[in-house]
Amino acid sequence: MEQGVSFDLDLIRRYDQSGPRYTSYPTAVEFDESFDEAAYQTACARSNESGRPLSIYFHLPFCDTVCFYCACNKIATKDRSLVQPYLERVYRELEMQSALFDRSRQVEQLHWGGGTPTFLNNAQMIELMEVTRRHFTLAGDDVGEFSIEIDPREADAASIKVLRQIGFNRMSLGVQDFDPRVQTAVNRIQTEEQTMAVLNAALAEGFRSISIDLIYGLPFQSVESFSKTLERVIAVNPQRLSIFNYAHLPERFKPQRRINDADLPAPEVKLDILQSTIARLTEAGYVYIGMDHFARPDDELALAQQAGTLYRNFQGYSTHADCDLIGIGVTSIGKVDNTYGQNRRGLDEYYADIDAGHLAVFRGIELNRDDLIRRDIITQLICHFGLDMRAAEARWGIQFADYFADSLEKLQGMAEDGLVEITADEIRILAPGRLLVRNICMAFDAYLAAKTGPIGFSKVI
Ligand SMILES: C[S@@+](CC[C@H](N)C(=O)[O-])C[C@H]1O[C@@H](n2cnc3c(N)ncnc32)[C@H](O)[C@@H]1O
Ligand code: SF4
Repeated sequence: MEQGVSFDLDLIRRYDQSGPRYTSYPTAVEFDESFDEAAYQTACARSNESGRPLSIYFHLPFCDTVCFYCACNKIATKDRSLVQPYLERVYRELEMQSALFDRSRQVEQLHWGGGTPTFLNNAQMIELMEVTRRHFTLAGDDVGEFSIEIDPREADAASIKVLRQIGFNRMSLGVQDFDPRVQTAVNRIQTEEQTMAVLNAALAEGFRSISIDLIYGLPFQSVESFSKTLERVIAVNPQRLSIFNYAHLPERFKPQRRINDADLPAPEVKLDILQSTIARLTEAGYVYIGMDHFARPDDELALAQQAGTLYRNFQGYSTHADCDLIGIGVTSIGKVDNTYGQNRRGLDEYYADIDAGHLAVFRGIELNRDDLIRRDIITQLICHFGLDMRAAEARWGIQFADYFADSLEKLQGMAEDGLVEITADEIRILAPGRLLVRNICMAFDAYLAAKTGPIGFSKVI
């Protein structure tokens, strides 16, 4: 499939409405507390019959300072003594979780996210990986995808070396913007030297894939200023780039109240930044994977997209479609068999459950057949910009045109506007529709169809 994306201002203006990012379907707003520890344990027993490989996500929530834009689940603190008590609970949780999964099931994917995972000191990071290996069977370095989110202000050559030694082979680096004025306004002062030192250390240690996170829409950004950051990033040629859109929702994210509305770029400027960024990255040889992500054409995400094997989960795009996902730590979400389950969101509640000898799963959802069908369709569209309707009929035993009559009708307007092409056998998302892929997926979302009024998700642009 050709990989182009094109930028049509008029269409973006018309179709840009708030919508889910579909890291799960149904989305987390549909989770409820009738899904509890017992339901999770039953799902784990079912999943063992499949023998599928495993993926483990660890949430490490602490950060030394708060970046004012941040929408992640984090705890800002200077108190490093908070780490060990947290790790003690994580170890208990690992032990309880491991009892639910057959030891023969290999962990093919492991991710430390945050917060700032390297808020842990080197000894703590070594210990956490040791305990993980005690309870689970990790795949070899050639097969396993072991990734970590790195804040370059909280890492150096020595910690990068340790991370490679304990098994990590991929990382994403939080950069956001190199402009000092932007950095001051968002309370994230990070020199280019700091970033480059960590990047070079990672290359020297043999990290296989390095991804860089940037954000557009931050205070004082302009097309010119952001393109300077972009040029410096392109010069180091990372395999992947995430270009996130800053959504300013100060009612929801408290630190954002410290960002002055008047300093934010106007919507037209944001669109201009996005347009010039896409043009420049395309010129530099990057492929648009979808939903903020770009990759070099030889990167495994780009190759998986071409081969039709790309997948999307809570960490973004992935090549490990068939894994059951175990979520460890506060707020983590797991995906086991036909369920999603989420851990407690407050540290105290999380500790209380674990200390009482229970898992901290407090809400979730068991997918019914309709959810599974729609998740499959949304995954195909979001990962491959297309859908083979005949293949979907064969997989699910449905008549596509009947089952999805409402959805196809919703797509008609988008087809007339050139966002999608619908033939007898296929739905194809055309270049102008690719930035709006989530709006296209929304046509297949049964929960949105049932809702009226504001839906509380962020906008596309
Ligand atoms: C958990 S952080 C990455 C690790 C580390 N804490 C750091 O900041 O370098 C994940 C990424 O989410 C992005 N992010 C956080 N808040 C955001 C927001 N409000 N809008 C867009 N992107 C955001 C940033 O690009 C950040 O690098
Ligand atoms: S962007 Fe990263 S370092 Fe900054 S507050 Fe969020 S999680 Fe912490």
